[in-house]
Amino acid sequence: MTPRNVLVTGAAGGMCGGINARLARAGHTLLCADLNLAAAETAAETVRAVGGTAHAFTVDVTDAESIRDMDAAAEDAVGRVDVVVNAAGILDRKYLVDHDDASFERALGVNLVGPFRMIQRFTPGMVERGWGRIINISSIAGVTGYPYPSYAASKAGLSNLTRSLVIDLWGTGVTVNAICPGVVDTPMVIEDVRRQVPRKVPTERVIDPEEIGALATFLISDDARSINGADLLVDGGATGYFQLFDRP
Ligand SMILES: NC(=O)c1ccc[n+]([C@@H]2O[C@H](COP(=O)([O-])OP(=O)(O)OC[C@H]3O[C@@H](n4cnc5c(N)ncnc54)[C@H](O)[C@@H]3O)[C@@H](O)[C@H]2O)c1
Repeated sequence: MTPRNVLVTGAAGGMCGGINARLARAGHTLLCADLNLAAAETAAETVRAVGGTAHAFTVDVTDAESIRDMDAAAEDAVGRVDVVVNAAGILDRKYLVDHDDASFERALGVNLVGPFRMIQRFTPGMVERGWGRIINISSIAGVTGYPYPSYAASKAGLSNLTRSLVIDLWGTGVTVNAICPGVVDTPMVIEDVRRQVPRKVPTERVIDPEEIGALATFLISDDARSINGADLLVDGGATGYFQLFDRP
């Protein structure tokens, strides 16, 4: 596989532990970016400890200037960004009545406007070089109705942003895809949800973050060059069946 420079936002999070590990194992250079610089440095160190190459950066994806600064720092470190994985995200467990404008907009700001800003910032260089990959970490919460509307709306928006951008990026060599994970083994998932997995998810298991990393690695490979605008479910079948049904 051709080694690429892969910029991952939210790189200090639970899912990115698996994403960073798999990408590094495939020989890619990791640019680990997170709001929490110390945690991004720990993530990069974890990659280096197993023989990978990684650099750490701070970024707030809700702030265009912060993205610009990170871009400059990444360019200093490795020269160019070939792949962006938009994994930074927040889950605000508020129901409709608990939200105000600011809390709803905050979720959209991190989960939807953030990836938009990242894509706008990094695709021109990819287009110029004739090759690039955007991987957006969406969610099954963007595919079905979901109890927390800001998260659901932001992820549905991210998935449809993904589909729509294939038109903008037509013929450029840059593909854009979304991964929609189900219940992944990270701190974001509460115990009550984990407990229900064997009853509600046909594979009866919580997903390992490395499974998401494996798919991201495949999407970067040449074998995936015709996968574009896809919303790829990794949910153990959770969203695929008729819910008013008790398993046999
Ligand atoms: N855990 C799951 O089961 C699950 C399922 C589906 C989708 N997802 C999505 O996967 C992604 C990763 O989730 P996770 O479980 O690792 O969550 P996590 O909370 O462990 O990690 C999220 C990371 O994003 C960073 N972050 C938050 N706001 C940021 C900002 N403004 N700028 C830059 N970084 C910021 C945090 O510091 C954190 O390190 C998220 O987009 C989440 O919505 C998670």
